[in-house]
Amino acid sequence: MGGCLLIAAEALAAPVFDLPPVAPPDQYGNILIDRRATQKGVKPVSFSHWSHRLRFTCRVCHTELGFTMKVNTSEITEAENKAGKYCGACHNGRIAFSQKECGRCHNNDIAYGSEKFDLFMENPFPRTPFGDGINWVEALRTGMINPRTYLKTKSKDIVFEKTLTIESGWSIISPSIFPHRAHIQWLDCSTCHPDLFNIKLKSTKAFTMSNILKGDFCGVCHLTVAFPMNDCMRCHPGISEDKGGQ
Ligand code: HEC
Ligand code: HEC
Ligand code: HEC
Ligand code: HEC
Ligand code: HEC
Ligand code: HEC
Repeated sequence: MGGCLLIAAEALAAPVFDLPPVAPPDQYGNILIDRRATQKGVKPVSFSHWSHRLRFTCRVCHTELGFTMKVNTSEITEAENKAGKYCGACHNGRIAFSQKECGRCHNNDIAYGSEKFDLFMENPFPRTPFGDGINWVEALRTGMINPRTYLKTKSKDIVFEKTLTIESGWSIISPSIFPHRAHIQWLDCSTCHPDLFNIKLKSTKAFTMSNILKGDFCGVCHLTVAFPMNDCMRCHPGISEDKGGQ
């Protein structure tokens, strides 16, 4: 049954949306940072999300440490790292290997750490067929991972766990859900509110699949780090009922 539903969703997707290509599992969420490296005569820096989110929630880096969610936009320098900022907040020889091991970061290899990924995937981890192949929601729920939520400053956020139903106004597609709970376990409210989304259901303008696929709204994360847009049914769970339920 699941197979047919997926075909229904993909058949629907094909004529309407141009889904961007998705990196292979061992490289999904990997980036090469080269804002200044090449220019300064060192190799671009490799960074993998899977190996870091295993140990830290997004908010540690993207709220507390000030990394932005777009590659090559944070003002990381060797001096800042040495002063204990950015990568240097952890890569200080205590939390992680030190700044002296230049080549473990400056290696210009987007697939750096692939063997570690393959080894890691020998664990009985909750799976999905998309993205890096790991179902991070289940991994967290079942306690298989327990990422740190802060380094020095805890989030002061209130808890808000409402699951929203986002109707699209198209009758052919069942609405998307938006579970706050699955997000606030990783992220602070301020990552999304008010810059990405208004704090009022259906008030965000131009919030469509084509804009999401361009990297706006849900696409800020669900193209490169969180499960990718190909996984229609995790956002539109009703596709199963509408298209293949009976
Ligand atoms: C934990 C990872 C990490 C380690 C270890 C590391 N760097 Fe970097 N370094 C970075 C990142 C990230 C950047 C930002 C790259 C960019 O924006 O192009 C950077 C930028 C740089 C830059 C260019 C920006 C600037 O400061 O002018 C130089 C030069 C540099 N590093 C030298 C070194 C040297 C030399 C070492 C070893 C003594 C080293 N780095 C170790 C992560 C690291
Ligand atoms: C250990 C630190 C760290 C953690 C944890 C982390 N990130 Fe990142 N993330 C980074 C860095 C560094 C960059 C690149 C920033 C730059 O180049 O300016 C980045 C970039 C991104 C990007 C842009 C990718 C691209 O291709 O442009 C997205 C989206 C993102 N992160 C989402 C997340 C999400 C969602 C989580 C949690 C599931 C997360 N990050 C966890 C450090 C982290
Ligand atoms: C919140 C803490 C934290 C931050 C910030 C952080 N890292 Fe890490 N990183 C770790 C930990 C912990 C490990 C795994 C332990 C180790 O290898 O020492 C790791 C591992 C790595 C590895 C794997 C090394 C290997 O040889 O397998 C690379 C590469 C790396 N980090 C690069 C970076 C870069 C580049 C940045 C900044 C853009 C960064 N990290 C920021 C904590 C962090
Ligand atoms: C990953 C992004 C994201 C995060 C993190 C997030 N929200 Fe939201 N929130 C949304 C979206 C999307 C909507 C719906 C916006 C729309 O439909 O225009 C929304 C709507 C809301 C609404 C309106 C609900 C309604 O029924 O009208 C409230 C209240 C809200 N968020 C509070 C919070 C709080 C408090 C936090 C932190 C604990 C938080 N949000 C974290 C994405 C997020
Ligand atoms: C700032 C980053 C970010 C944004 C923006 C974002 N998400 Fe997520 N979302 C995540 C992360 C991280 C997870 C955890 C699962 C993962 O990483 O694959 C997640 C999980 C989910 C889940 C849970 C799936 C499950 O199996 O329980 C749904 C559904 C979801 N997102 C839908 C949305 C929708 C719809 C939007 C836009 C309205 C959105 N997300 C915007 C980061 C984000
Ligand atoms: C990360 C969550 C997410 C994923 C994955 C996702 N969607 Fe959507 N989709 C949304 C949201 C949110 C909307 C509502 C936008 C709005 O209000 O119109 C939407 C709207 C739509 C619409 C209505 C038209 C439009 O542009 O708004 C269609 C059709 C659609 N999605 C099909 C799909 C198909 C097919 C897939 C799989 C290839 C898919 N979606 C994957 C979140 C998602």
